[in-house]
Amino acid sequence: MKFNRAEEIWLIVGVGILVLSMVITGYQGFAKSMGPPSGMETLDPEKVDEHELFSEPGVYQVGENKYEVVMTLSAFQFTPNNIEIPVGAEVEFIMTSKDVIHGFQVAGTNLNAMVTPGYIQRISKTFDEAGEFLVLCNEYCGIGHQIMGTTITVK
Ligand code: CUA
Repeated sequence: MKFNRAEEIWLIVGVGILVLSMVITGYQGFAKSMGPPSGMETLDPEKVDEHELFSEPGVYQVGENKYEVVMTLSAFQFTPNNIEIPVGAEVEFIMTSKDVIHGFQVAGTNLNAMVTPGYIQRISKTFDEAGEFLVLCNEYCGIGHQIMGTTITVK
């Protein structure tokens, strides 16, 4: 079978458009949402449970008034949940996701972070006042997104 000239031209144009759109999509994906956040530590999202930092999520005292909250996020929970810390504690949250992108937002504070699978997110805050803080996922992560939440109790 032999293509005539017009068919050949349209075939080339068609393939050209396809390739071009793939290149654009690929580039945008890489340069924007999929691109690695600069300076962040990485890990294998399939092996979070085996990772030295995340094998035992929990609240750890690491100094006189310093705490680390080692936390994993997954559909649709924060582990650990119902965190308790003393008033005045300086807390570093060290987080990663085991599946999709989740959010970590503590209502009424400036704590707000995106938690992406494959990356370790660290944010810190000193909790000067007693109270109960609501923690919410603010990145749409699936059918249970609305119920993904926990609390931080400062006392
Ligand atoms: Cu997790 Cu929305």
